Amino acid sequence: MNKRAEELSASLEQAAFWMPFTANRQFKKAPRLLARAEGMYYWTPEGRQVLDGTAGLWCVNAGHCRPKIVEAVRRQVAQMDYAPPFQMGHPIAFEFAERLARIAPPGFKRVFFTNSGSESADTALKIALAYHRARGDGGRYRLIGRERGYHGVNFGGMAVGGITANRKVFGPGVAGVDHIRHTHDPARNAFSRGQPRHGAEFADELERLCALHDPATVAAVIVEPVAGSAGVLVPPLGYLERLREICTRHGILLIFDEVITGFGRLGQPFASQRFGVMPDLFTAAKGITNATVPMGAVFIKDSIYDAFMHGAEGIELFHGYTYSGHPLACAAGIATLQTYEEEGLLTRVSKIEKHWEEAAHALKGAPHVIDIRNIGLMAAIELEPRPGQPGKRAYEVFVKAFEAGVLIRVTGDIIALSPPLIVEPAQIERIFECARSVLAATP
Ligand SMILES: Cc1ncc(COP(=O)(O)O)c(C=O)c1O
Repeated sequence: MNKRAEELSASLEQAAFWMPFTANRQFKKAPRLLARAEGMYYWTPEGRQVLDGTAGLWCVNAGHCRPKIVEAVRRQVAQMDYAPPFQMGHPIAFEFAERLARIAPPGFKRVFFTNSGSESADTALKIALAYHRARGDGGRYRLIGRERGYHGVNFGGMAVGGITANRKVFGPGVAGVDHIRHTHDPARNAFSRGQPRHGAEFADELERLCALHDPATVAAVIVEPVAGSAGVLVPPLGYLERLREICTRHGILLIFDEVITGFGRLGQPFASQRFGVMPDLFTAAKGITNATVPMGAVFIKDSIYDAFMHGAEGIELFHGYTYSGHPLACAAGIATLQTYEEEGLLTRVSKIEKHWEEAAHALKGAPHVIDIRNIGLMAAIELEPRPGQPGKRAYEVFVKAFEAGVLIRVTGDIIALSPPLIVEPAQIERIFECARSVLAATP
């Protein structure tokens, strides 16, 4: 262990760092630290190797510390560390946006840069509201999200999000927001492989909300094509198509939050391409720079961008961030796209998805397992909660797996798995074998 890590471990109980989405007191008594990473692995400060079953936080799609990306960031920071993005430009931001537009579905030639998934969600919602206003349809102010949706932690994303714990202590939030129901239906769909068969009709809830509120007041609907943070909820067959149809019929913009599903996780660059359903705007972050430098983006349909470019000359959208299109993020992003392209990573999952699915579903019958679901290189193993102790069992599984050398992720009583897209078959076996033995050892 290096000296700094040793000191850290010894002093964590009094640490200044208030850790995000973490049980701070619990963690600081028994810390789990990561000090180094390469390819499919992390190493702890003591030098113990840990297989990354989660691509960090669904974000390190090409694996860790990829040389091309590291080198690009190193070069850029020495050449130009920062440049203001308001009324000034720098070539690398234009170049990166151009390259992103090339892998986006046709008709999405415009990219707005942010610094995170949360900012991307809020940016997309604001563009949707401003778009209707730009077209003289400013009566559309309502935003509709979905139960169990996650769109980050800023006020807009929190408001349309549907995870109770993330909302309940933060006040009334944004006015004019409503939610359709989630798509999880274990009674009919447990142990589905890929898209579940039942539940396209859950999209009709949108029709119900339109009838309630008057569709002419609804600006946008935002959903994750596959809900990630709430535990890999795969859209039922026909569901996204039906949402699209209802939105189109009522002039409502459909926003896909592709912060997790973007950049190859489902075997295509974006989930819209996998499902063959096109939104009007979609968000991205995480894999956009392979998580090397924080960044997010909103992809905008041409007709939406064009609607802003007609009025009097001047700033068309009063929105943006000091670090929108940050030079280091753009350098990391370009090198990330090059890495994805050279190694075929944006489509590799389509080749390994079957193997992944088999390995995941082989856990059927393991202790506590009540559902397994998967799509692309994502899988969830849902556990029976311990009576009166929701989340406890899965948390113990998570800690034991880490001790056994595999990083998994848990949300409530659901284990979520999403390794880097470079994962090899033997590593897939190791992830699920570890899950199996840890489940067997967990009461
Ligand atoms: C679908 C989705 N949207 C938004 C976010 C928020 O991203 P960030 O943590 O970068 O703000 C996440 C993060 O997991 C996400 O999964």
